[in-house]
Amino acid sequence: MDLIKKFDEAVAVAKEKLERITTINDLNQEKPNFLGKKGVIAQAMATFKDLPAELKKELGMASNKARTALETLFENKRIALEQQIINEKLSKETIDVTLPGVKVNSGSIHPLNQTIMELEDLFIGMGYEICEGPEIETDENCFEKLNLPKGHPARDMQDTFYINPELLLRSQTSPIQVRTMALKNGQPIKILCPGKVYRRDADDATHSHQFMQIEGLVLGKDISFANLKGALLEVARKMFGKEREIRLRPSFFPFTEPSVEVDVSCAKCGGKGCPMCKNTGWIEVLGAGMVNNNVLEMSGYDKNEIQGFAFGIGVERVAMLKNRIDDIRNFYINDIRFLQQFKEVK
Ligand code: PHE
Repeated sequence: MDLIKKFDEAVAVAKEKLERITTINDLNQEKPNFLGKKGVIAQAMATFKDLPAELKKELGMASNKARTALETLFENKRIALEQQIINEKLSKETIDVTLPGVKVNSGSIHPLNQTIMELEDLFIGMGYEICEGPEIETDENCFEKLNLPKGHPARDMQDTFYINPELLLRSQTSPIQVRTMALKNGQPIKILCPGKVYRRDADDATHSHQFMQIEGLVLGKDISFANLKGALLEVARKMFGKEREIRLRPSFFPFTEPSVEVDVSCAKCGGKGCPMCKNTGWIEVLGAGMVNNNVLEMSGYDKNEIQGFAFGIGVERVAMLKNRIDDIRNFYINDIRFLQQFKEVK
């Protein structure tokens, strides 16, 4: 019966020891002293192999009871210690979610790009493809194949930066027309070409030596001047409001015939006349026309089969009118106070 006492004692000792244990490590070291191969229980069991069966049974039950009690004690202590670790971590690592975060300075899309994107959206909806070309162009693409042979007086209006007599910074996006026609081999075309262009102009409030254009070209069977008017009216209404009207005035471009300047009814006064439209009720926004037969022929198009129109939009002009910007230089001097005004609020 001494042994039974020993079991009870072992449980009591374990209880006491466990109370003083504060780490999982200490707990793991203590456990074998009670439940290990050489632990209190195992040692006691080793002594009762010679005892009569009666007693063995009783002692066996008592040792099992003690073992279970000890296992439960150690297990509960382990759970308690682990919980304690978690609690300590939680209380140390709590974050104040109400603290204001660190603000990330986000940029915004440049107003010129916003204008280009809006127009691209509109034209993609009408089935146009977006095309681009290089800013360094050949004299042939930029002028000659657009019906402006060397020495043509209309070149003066687009005096630009030459790299050598045959290479220049393009003065217009129209050479993308020539490039696309070369690729399409006499087939129909419906493209919109945004891009940067250069002219040797003195910079002032309305002129910049570099600016953006968007070129449009539509070639196909039976494309008429009426189609051009329809496309231009869409542009005017998209950019300046659905009440807008357009007015076409005869003009001249070597690569279109007939050619027109396109005016939009003034969005500020609705056409009555105000300082913005210089009291005319109209504002000039782009040039356009039916593609000149010479241009078609030079690029291998059969003028009797295929015809079409082209237009060139001044992106700065549209963005300035739309956003009431009074100096074109604002687009290029990178003053963050100016650019931030065009941040989309989301
Ligand atoms: N390329 C012309 C310019 O820069 C604009 C234009 C394009 C006119 C297409 C007619 C057709 O002035």
